[in-house]
Amino acid sequence: MGVLSRAKMLMKKTKWLFSGKYFKYVQTDYSNYYKIEVQKSRFAGKSFVVTGATGEIGRAICFKLAGEGAKVFCCGRNKDKVAEVMQTAASQCDGELIPICMDITSLQSVTDAVDEMMTMTDKIDGLVNCAGQSAREKTRDLYLQEESVINDIIDINLKGTIFCCKAVLAQMVKQNSGKIVNISSVVGVGGKSRHAEYSAAKAGVIGLTKTLAIEYGKRGITVNCVSPGLVPRGDMKLAKIESLKKTNQLGEICHGKDISGAVAFLLSDEADFITGDNLIVAGGRDLGLKGD
Ligand SMILES: NC(=O)c1ccc[n+]([C@@H]2O[C@H](COP(=O)([O-])OP(=O)(O)OC[C@H]3O[C@@H](n4cnc5c(N)ncnc54)[C@H](OP(=O)(O)O)[C@@H]3O)[C@@H](O)[C@H]2O)c1
Repeated sequence: MGVLSRAKMLMKKTKWLFSGKYFKYVQTDYSNYYKIEVQKSRFAGKSFVVTGATGEIGRAICFKLAGEGAKVFCCGRNKDKVAEVMQTAASQCDGELIPICMDITSLQSVTDAVDEMMTMTDKIDGLVNCAGQSAREKTRDLYLQEESVINDIIDINLKGTIFCCKAVLAQMVKQNSGKIVNISSVVGVGGKSRHAEYSAAKAGVIGLTKTLAIEYGKRGITVNCVSPGLVPRGDMKLAKIESLKKTNQLGEICHGKDISGAVAFLLSDEADFITGDNLIVAGGRDLGLKGD
């Protein structure tokens, strides 16, 4: 390629860079030159399934994906509640927010929900397993913990994630494509006092992610994990949030948008070659508390 052509290509590249549109480079041959394809909307034409859609983090993920053009199946236990939550963003999204009823602790419920979704799409490009929670006010030292709480926490966080992966993988295997992002927690990575069952379940989600990445890589399916630090829900007191901010390495608290950004990246083409990974999004909280 001559000097003039190279200069022209560089000018074109610069123009697109500053146009504010999405773009990507595609290597056309084994030289160092790249063709640029402009992507108007990162997820236009994609269909994603998000569980825990009514929650603090799940809602942020649904809005992010639909905001970038995707059709999003927003799953929760109560369809009316999901519809109500989604209403706040529906008019601002390029994509679609479709409420789906699903109890992830029942394989039958999950399978029925996937069947329902397949009447509205011909493929599932991505699954985000976000439904889950800790024992909250029922957290105890393990020797004092109730059997029912242990069962519930394992069922929601681990078994539920396994069921959703199983049901959606049946479709992704047919397609020979797909991306799964599981939501674990820094508590699954580093543990936390009085959270034995939650910590075990979330560590299990990381193990599940790695095994599925090994099992389905040959079928063009990637499986990754995002481990958030503490994300305040609506019920957390402002004073508590302020004190938590001070202990984080970045002096800020984690927000839903921080998690949705990481999830969107792992669902995007930019992450095609990433699988079996656990991306910690915690502002350095996993490195120890500030001042330790
Ligand atoms: N917030 C944090 O600080 C934090 C930190 C690290 C990791 N995480 C993880 O991030 C994820 C989201 O957390 P969040 O704080 O956004 O939770 P959240 O606000 O309490 O929402 C929990 C979500 O899970 C759904 N859910 C619970 N049990 C379910 C079941 N049996 N079947 C279907 N859906 C069910 C709820 O749906 P309903 O509408 O049906 O109740 C709700 O949408 C969880 O996996 C959590 O463990 C959170």
